[in-house]
Formats: sequence, C-alpha cells, structure tokens
Amino acid sequence: MAASQESALSTNAATSEVDAPVQASSIAQTELGHDGSQATGPELKALRGEGIIDPADIGPSGARSKRDFPVPPPLGVHGPARVISVCNQKGGVGKTTTTINLGAAMAKYGRRVLLVDLDPQGALSVGLGVPIHDLKVTGFEVLMGSATASEALLKTQVPGVDLLPSNIELSAAELYLVNEVGREYVLSRALAPIAADYDVILIDCQPSLGLLTLNALAASKGVLIPLECEYFALRGVALLIQTIQKVQERINPELQMSGILPTMYDARTVHAREVLNRVEETFPDKLFETVITRTVKFPETTVAGLPITEYAPNSGAAQAYQRLAREVLAK
Ligand SMILES: Nc1ncnc2c1ncn2[C@@H]1O[C@H](COP(=O)(O)OP(=O)(O)O)[C@@H](O)[C@H]1O
Ligand SMILES: [Mg+2]
Repeated sequence: MAASQESALSTNAATSEVDAPVQASSIAQTELGHDGSQATGPELKALRGEGIIDPADIGPSGARSKRDFPVPPPLGVHGPARVISVCNQKGGVGKTTTTINLGAAMAKYGRRVLLVDLDPQGALSVGLGVPIHDLKVTGFEVLMGSATASEALLKTQVPGVDLLPSNIELSAAELYLVNEVGREYVLSRALAPIAADYDVILIDCQPSLGLLTLNALAASKGVLIPLECEYFALRGVALLIQTIQKVQERINPELQMSGILPTMYDARTVHAREVLNRVEETFPDKLFETVITRTVKFPETTVAGLPITEYAPNSGAAQAYQRLAREVLAK
C-alpha cells in the first residue's frame, strides 16, 4: 500500500502542473451547496444526481458516474479529423484494445475513422484481421517517405473504419528518423493530406516514449491514457504526463490530455476497487467517467480479428466502448 500511495502522491504533484482541462468543465458556477456556498466538484454532481458510483457497483458496461452522454448527432459533412493518440509506455494495459474498439464504436455513430498502427508489433493490424507479414506498403514506408499515407491505407471488415497498418519493419523507422530534420513531425506531415477524409484518427502507440510515440503526440490534439486497474498502475504515469507536458511546450502546443481510461477493472476484487479509488483521488478531473471492466471476451476478439462491437455487440464490454465513444465525442 505504501508504494502505491507514494507513487500516487508523486503523480499528483506532477499532474497539478499540467494545464489540461478534461472534464467537469461543464459544471455551472452558480449552483449552491447544502451550506449555501457555491457547490463544486463532487458536491455539485451529487446535487444533480450525477454522483460518482461506488466502485463496487460499476457494472460491465462501465458507468463510473450516473450521468450518460448523448448519442452524437449524425454528421452532414466529414473531416477534418481530430487526432487522438492512445498512449502508455507500459505494455498490456489495453492501448490496442481501446484503439480498435473506440474506433469501431465511433464508426457506429457514423464517424469516419482511421486507425494508425504505430507499434512494430502490429497488434492493431492483427486485431483487425490483417495478415501483416504479406503487406507491401506499411507505416514504415510512409514514415520513410517512400509511400504516401493513402497508398498504405486499407479498408477493414468494419464499416467506416480504415487502417494504416504496420509490422515489425516499423522498428527500423525509429533509427532512420533520428537523423531526419524535423524528426518529430514526420507522421504529422504524412497524415496531413488525408486528415480531411476522416472525422477521427486514433493512433495506437508502442509501449515506449521513443521517437515513434513522440511523432504520435506531435500529430495529435488529444492523448488518451489507458490505465490498468492493478497495484503498480500509477507508476510511470507521472513520467508519461511530464512527457506530454514537454511535448505541449516544445513540439505541439495544441496537445491536450483527453483523459485517463481505467481498464481491466474487476468489481469483484477489493484490490481493483482500491486502485480505482486511488486513481480517482489522484486524477479527479482527468479520469474518464467510463470504466472498461475485465472480460475474457477481448482475447477472443483478437483471435476473431474483429472489434468487440462487431463480435459481441450486446456484451457489456461493447456497451462500455460505445459509452466511451459518446463520452469522447461529447468533449
Ligand atoms: N478489458 C479487458 N479485459 C480482459 N482482457 C483484456 C482487456 N483489455 C485488453 N485485454 C487483453 O489484454 C491483453 C493486452 O491488451 P492490449 O490492448 O494488447 O494492450 P497494449 O496495447 O497496451 O499492450 C490482450 O490480450 C487483450 O486481449
Ligand atoms: Mg498494443
């Protein structure tokens, strides 16, 4: 416990410097609390019946608060894309799962979605059923400048979702990019010509804070951080938030935190509930109100090469990503 408290505290100190309004910005200034003073934060939410739910009561469809988000209205005109990186330098926290399923969920709301695989492991591409070893043109060629992004694009089995695939070749790109002029902006330049064709571009980052991830952050408006609900989850988040802050200052002033997404949450364990409580305390206004619970369905979907919204659309997990899509699109 001591270790997690310590890391939570140091993380808190680091985040307080980050100027990144995420949620709760819609809270009106004029409502009064029980003692007649202006109500803020949790008190205001309680007044409105939007209170935070006890972590033990979070169901499979992942509502952390009583408020839901509106179904986004259909779009008459598409683009230009809002680019969001899905980023955490820790592996196995749900980055790829979130990229696929959030993207597919947004497509169900009529959004044109491009998913960019920026991890040489190619898990995003595999998760969408793409045979990555047979590809002639991938993210590698795009970053090297020998192909354009539109030449690398693939349609996926999911209506409305395109993919810029990658495979292990991408690991060489990092070495080449080191000597490139404007090396952090290579992806941003490559995506610019196709940004008008999409409403959302989600970039699945590799588990490191290296040059590929910096390229993702330089190209993005938002960064979504999946955080596994387990004991050491908060370790490393302070470093990630500092990195985001440096990117804001030096490379991309437009970058904002979209929010932290609790993943692999298991309401049956006291441990997961404690971790979620700790995360709520540490990042009160950066946490998404949607929580992704742990379910065996996700590994199954990878084998099927489909997002859960297609594989098991009525499951709690599909509903949770659908809710997350509403939450992200409402911001
Ligand atoms: N909510 C979840 N419940 C259960 N398993 C999950 C969940 N989210 C992801 N997984 C599984 O955990 C593993 C790691 O997830 P992944 O999205 O690949 O993480 P990352 O991209 O951060 O490395 C995968 O096998 C995936 O199927
Ligand atoms: Mg991954």
